[in-house]
Formats: sequence, C-alpha cells, structure tokens
Amino acid sequence: MGLLTGKTALITGAARGIGKAIALKFAEEGANIAFTDLVIDENGQQTEKEIAAFGVKAKGYASNAADFAQTEEVVNQIKADFGSIDILVNNAGITKDGLMLRMTEQQWDAVIAVNLKSAFNFIHACTPIMMRQRGGSIINMSSVVGVHGNAGQCNYSASKAGLIALAKSIAQEMGAKGIRANAIAPGFIETAMTAALPEDVRKEWVQKIPLRRGGQVEDIANTALYLASDLSSYVSGQVIQVDGGMNM
Ligand code: NAI
Repeated sequence: MGLLTGKTALITGAARGIGKAIALKFAEEGANIAFTDLVIDENGQQTEKEIAAFGVKAKGYASNAADFAQTEEVVNQIKADFGSIDILVNNAGITKDGLMLRMTEQQWDAVIAVNLKSAFNFIHACTPIMMRQRGGSIINMSSVVGVHGNAGQCNYSASKAGLIALAKSIAQEMGAKGIRANAIAPGFIETAMTAALPEDVRKEWVQKIPLRRGGQVEDIANTALYLASDLSSYVSGQVIQVDGGMNM
C-alpha cells in the first residue's frame, strides 16, 4: 500500500514543472489526481497519461486559478468526479519581475492574483469539503524569496510571503477540524521558470548554494509527499525550505 492510497489530491498548475512532479509522486504512492492548468493541451494530456500509468484516476481541468468563480466551479466538478478532496497543493504561479520603480500596476496585480489570490480561491472552495471529511492537508508553494525577499521581485516575493502567512492562518483556524496547512519554500529549482533566466544570473544563483547545484523537481515532490501524507501528521503551520542550504 502506498502512503496516499485511497486519497484524492488536487494540484493547481500541474501540467508541467514542479506541479507535474508532485502529481506523479503522489500517484506513485496511490493517490487519485485531479489537476488544473490554464489549458489542458497536449502537454496536459500527456501529464494525465503519465499519472494514470500508475493505475490511479487522473484528470486535468482547464481553469484559471486566479478566478474565484471558475475555481468554485472546478472544485465542485472535481468533488463530483472524485468523491473527495483530501490534499490540496496550491502550486500555480507566475513571475513578472522588475524593480519597484519600473514595476507596473499590471505586473503587480497579475502576480498577486495568480500566486496568492488563487490559493485563497482554492482553500475557500476546498475546506468545506475537508471539514466534512474531518481532515485534509493543504500545501502552499511559496519560495525562499517569500522568506527573505529579493531585489527585482517585490511582487513575487510579497505573493510568496503571503502564501506562508495564509498557510499559518489556516493551520490555526482549521486545526481543530483535522486540517493541516504548511508551505514549501523551494530555492533554485531546474524548471521552465528558471530556464528562462539569463546564464549569468543562473550561475550567480548556483554560487550561493552550499550544495552547488540547482534542485530537481523531485526534491520538491518528496517534500510535498511528506507534508501530504501521515508522515507529517503532527506538522502544521510550518515552512520547509528546500534550497540546498542557500538560506539558513
Ligand atoms: P512552471 O512555470 O513550470 O509551472 C507553473 C504552472 O502553472 C504552468 O503549467 C502554468 O501554465 C500554470 N499556471 C500559470 N498561471 C496559471 C493560472 N492562472 N491558473 C492555473 N494554472 C496556471 O513553474 P514551476 O517552476 O514548476 O513552479 C511551480 C511553483 O513553484 C510556482 O508557484 C513557483 O512560483 C514555485 N517556485 C518555483 C521555483 C523554481 O525555481 N522553479 C522556486 C520557488 C518557487
């Protein structure tokens, strides 16, 4: 039996990258997987197939996580299709970097909406289901810059700090209902998001990491598995930094 056998996990923004790695890891441990992304194209369909290959139920849903009404609708649909929602991973995220003086209102609003409001939307829609089930694990995908800040990413850092405070608040509000909420703060992880960085910026980041390498998506998936499963049944309101020792 896997660590998540019989559980249903909902992961946002999981057609690729870290979200996909989490979906595959959870499926390997027996969870049925519902995931969302802006569109479910060939990429998303491929992800669906790879998840289903573990012999679990898998379905991708096209939905904008920043949209409150769409989120309610998709969560209701997932509940109808899967019967329960035991694990929620708020993973969808974007960057629109720039120094404060040059940052536009649009850059600020877009990042706060996709990274932070999305988590509110999903927690708001999923926790009534979890409360009725008297249990659930919520994982917010933050970032090391949400703990330490980062020049040129005031919007992103603020959204990621918000995800930590949101997890801690939910942990306090809903602990008595058996719902745990935690955050993961990844450091520099090798994905499409970081591949887009110029080579000199990538090199500079890696120099700051005691383990002298970028993390792999599996490093984050393993931490998510710990937080989603009963291995962490007495852990709530925490932030786990998975960053090769970059920030201590
Ligand atoms: P990615 O860009 O490869 O994947 C993000 C996914 O979210 C994409 O599939 C994208 O289509 C989806 N998405 C974007 N906007 C959405 C929306 N409005 N609604 C639904 N889905 C949406 O990024 P990656 O690297 O896999 O990152 C995943 C999470 O991890 C993000 O929250 C990111 O901020 C966080 N993170 C990543 C780090 C890294 O080094 N890659 C470091 C720290 C945090």
